[in-house]
Amino acid sequence: MDNEFILQVINLKKHFRDVKAVDGISFGVERGQIFGFLGPNGSGKTTTIGMILALIHPTAGEVKLFGKPVSPYQPKVLRNVGALVSSPVLVPYLSARQNLVLIARLYPDLKPSRIAEILELVGLSGASNRMTSTFSTGMKQRLGLGMALLHKPALLVLDEPTNGMDPNGMHEVRNLLVNLANQGVTIFLSSHLLYEVEQICDFIALIKNGRLVSQGEVRNLVGQKKAVKVRVKSTQQAARLLRELPGSNSIFPNGEFVTVAGVSSQAVVAHLTSHGVIPSEVSYGPLDLENLFLEMTNQTTKEMR
Ligand SMILES: Nc1ncnc2c1ncn2[C@@H]1O[C@H](COP(=O)(O)OP(=O)(O)O)[C@@H](O)[C@H]1O
Ligand SMILES: [Mg+2]
Repeated sequence: MDNEFILQVINLKKHFRDVKAVDGISFGVERGQIFGFLGPNGSGKTTTIGMILALIHPTAGEVKLFGKPVSPYQPKVLRNVGALVSSPVLVPYLSARQNLVLIARLYPDLKPSRIAEILELVGLSGASNRMTSTFSTGMKQRLGLGMALLHKPALLVLDEPTNGMDPNGMHEVRNLLVNLANQGVTIFLSSHLLYEVEQICDFIALIKNGRLVSQGEVRNLVGQKKAVKVRVKSTQQAARLLRELPGSNSIFPNGEFVTVAGVSSQAVVAHLTSHGVIPSEVSYGPLDLENLFLEMTNQTTKEMR
């Protein structure tokens, strides 16, 4: 069973005095997955990643990598892991290539051709001789990914890899991750942005206040629940009316739309129109992941961003 999982987190806890940063979470990451570790700010993602990488000592529980327990006294098990936590440490007055050469010294078995290979992989071949002080955040982050990948790790652990990046840079990083996964690298990434993990992850674990709220394959999470979606002038008014409708639940006003589960389209339209609210569009389908996410974490969209 153990060796099915590249990474296993077993009843893991980290308490800082009375702050229960991580409070008993368990999950497993299988080979080849892109695993999204999703949660709002302060939910315990970075602390968990710290424990996965043996940078933080757990209060209780265990982390296993490739079936073996992780510990700062047994660093060998971490050799097959590449990690990028917050921004990469770069020497600003050295070029991208020189920064990679510096890290490559840690791995005596590495072929010199690996540097060019990595520059190509992260899309920095054209900028390889530029000082990294001139790089955009996206370029720096891609170089950081390149550093983490130099030794061909089987598992890549990334803490909010697109944090602080513009949409273009985020897009580049996402494409790169999908590319890597296609080459057989298992990826564990944390994010507070639902749409990011939704786009590239196979599997999502949702964390809130140090506890797992839900986990599952993205396609199952998305398809789990059906809802009626109406376009109305006042979403707040419509939401208020829909709350009165027997059986209704998961009511989400979002933009020009309100979604509601647990009731039929007919019942929704009849109830709204009888109160003078005429929907200009009605549809019925799977509740989208964003609403599911909001429901599971009880956050408003505003709080999430
Ligand atoms: N070294 C620490 N000492 C005290 N509290 C901490 C420490 N590190 C993190 N925390 C607290 O633990 C909780 C989880 O933090 P963190 O793991 O950084 O969350 P996330 O990465 O999801 O934003 C937060 O309430 C944070 O303030
Ligand atoms: Mg964090």
